[in-house]
Amino acid sequence: MILKSNTKQEQQENLKAGPDKEDIYAIELIGVSKDYHRYSERVKALRNIDLKVKKEDQVVVTGTSGSGKSTFLHIIGALERPSSGMIKVDGRDLAKMSEYMLSNFRNSQVGFVFQMNNLLAEFTALENVMIPGLIAGVREKDVLERARYLLEAVALDARKHHRPRELSGGEQQRVAIARALLMDPGLLLADEPTGNLDHRTSQAVFELLKDICRRHGSTMLLITHDQEMAKNFDKKIMMEDGIIQEKVGVL
Ligand SMILES: Nc1ncnc2c1ncn2[C@@H]1O[C@H](COP(=O)(O)OP(=O)(O)O)[C@@H](O)[C@H]1O
Ligand SMILES: [Mg+2]
Repeated sequence: MILKSNTKQEQQENLKAGPDKEDIYAIELIGVSKDYHRYSERVKALRNIDLKVKKEDQVVVTGTSGSGKSTFLHIIGALERPSSGMIKVDGRDLAKMSEYMLSNFRNSQVGFVFQMNNLLAEFTALENVMIPGLIAGVREKDVLERARYLLEAVALDARKHHRPRELSGGEQQRVAIARALLMDPGLLLADEPTGNLDHRTSQAVFELLKDICRRHGSTMLLITHDQEMAKNFDKKIMMEDGIIQEKVGVL
């Protein structure tokens, strides 16, 4: 079952985009920079980044700590605004969107998975997964059905009424993945999602992310420092000191 959350207006905009849709990249960055200011010091976290990622591509992002990977992902997911440059996601220019449109965008078009899964402690796995749908005002019955389906997909059917503290790290991360996918986002952004997990659990989480994205036709950007895992991706971005040092399989 695919939960259709698009508003009438969004559907019409999609229709208007019609014949050109194939030419639209999932992600397009032109000359993107991000500076942070700390006291009198300026940190150039991203420097003039250009990138095009095709729809349904699965891209791994590697680089040393502090090279700008998280900043890069946050900017694409509209958690932060760039200092300069243009970012389009699915053909939509993020700079032209209001704060309200951006919060809808983050909730329904983007799925985030972080190293710290940020599950809400007082809610069950099922309730945690349902949250993005309830925020978006989707009918509760549909949200429930979709959340159950996703928990089954991440093999947590038997744990759906457990609270996060009653789940292992790997199980919690699978709940976070199910939550990220609730709104059937076109874009999945994962920032070291297996950073706190052992090797075998990490492998399972990676496989799950790849498989679910493939089945749902989502585009995925995944940050990892695990070189073994990175080898399983044929599309790669290597970051160094705020620039993309090397691209494989992306433009
Ligand atoms: N909110 C912030 N304020 C100031 N500096 C920041 C902030 N976020 C990140 N930075 C700096 O920007 C650089 C890139 O950080 P980050 O994107 O987190 O790198 P990575 O994820 O590759 O470790 C680092 O030098 C970091 O200290
Ligand atoms: Mg980081």
